[in-house]
Amino acid sequence: MPSTAKARIADIEQRLLLDAIYHRYHYDFREYAQASLKRRLQSALTQFGCKTLSQLQDRVLHDPPVFTELLQFLTVQVSDMFRDPSYFLALRNEVVPILRTYPSIKVWVAGCSAGEEVYSLAILLAEEGLLERAMIYATDINPHALRTAEQGVFDMDRVAAFSANHARSGGRSSLSDYYTARYGRVVFDKRLREHMVFSDHSLATDSVFAEVHLISCRNVLIYFERDLQSRALGLFHEALVHRGFLGLGSRESLRFSAQAGNFDDFVLEDRIYRKKAGQ
Ligand SMILES: C[S@@+](CC[C@H](N)C(=O)[O-])C[C@H]1O[C@@H](n2cnc3c(N)ncnc32)[C@H](O)[C@@H]1O
Repeated sequence: MPSTAKARIADIEQRLLLDAIYHRYHYDFREYAQASLKRRLQSALTQFGCKTLSQLQDRVLHDPPVFTELLQFLTVQVSDMFRDPSYFLALRNEVVPILRTYPSIKVWVAGCSAGEEVYSLAILLAEEGLLERAMIYATDINPHALRTAEQGVFDMDRVAAFSANHARSGGRSSLSDYYTARYGRVVFDKRLREHMVFSDHSLATDSVFAEVHLISCRNVLIYFERDLQSRALGLFHEALVHRGFLGLGSRESLRFSAQAGNFDDFVLEDRIYRKKAGQ
């Protein structure tokens, strides 16, 4: 069979698989960036010992644990504490002084993965004396990642990189002030976790659940097609209080989105935006 025909069939199979997942499990990957999904689905074929996506679809439809495992391929879990330290430095220097003026502070970390970004923000708020009046809502669609995040446990061999990022983000203390080391792992303190609520929430299918002052949604929109990015940005606009803040990942931008007109650039080089007045 010519390779163009094979590629066309693979595209059809991919669409059918995503439809099947949506109708069976209500997870909607139909508006995700298809080229990147395709690469990850190819790895899944090897893992599940399937020759085609149609074979994989059959297994996913009839065997829910296969879907749970497939979610690890459909979602990208790469993360780091204080990832892109200049982003956290900009939050600390530019956003925190304004958050400080509020009696209580609500933060939404959308696409929180295993919690690296959530614990980073909690530590930043603790260092700035704001954690006691803050609540961080951390959401994701990957239940395994959410469970891990809730435990606040990370492998010890990642901690040197976490600490270096923390220092570069303007950290005012030692990261080790916030964790206990045990058997090759570190466990972050309960006093941080007391200010976090973890829940399953999809930017593709769910609606707004709270009014918040800061949304940090980093390295999530990059996996979405334009319409889905607009949907997510619309949710963020709706969830933010008057003049609330939105932080995106270093390769993400509001510039070409339908929401661009609803936000002001705040710290443009670190992708921090502010909801326009009168919205
Ligand atoms: C690359 S990680 C980003 C983690 C962290 N925000 C960071 O920047 O390091 C992307 C996360 O987005 C989550 N995700 C993917 N689709 C999502 C959706 N529709 N709604 C919420 N989270 C989603 C994935 O499960 C994954 O945990």
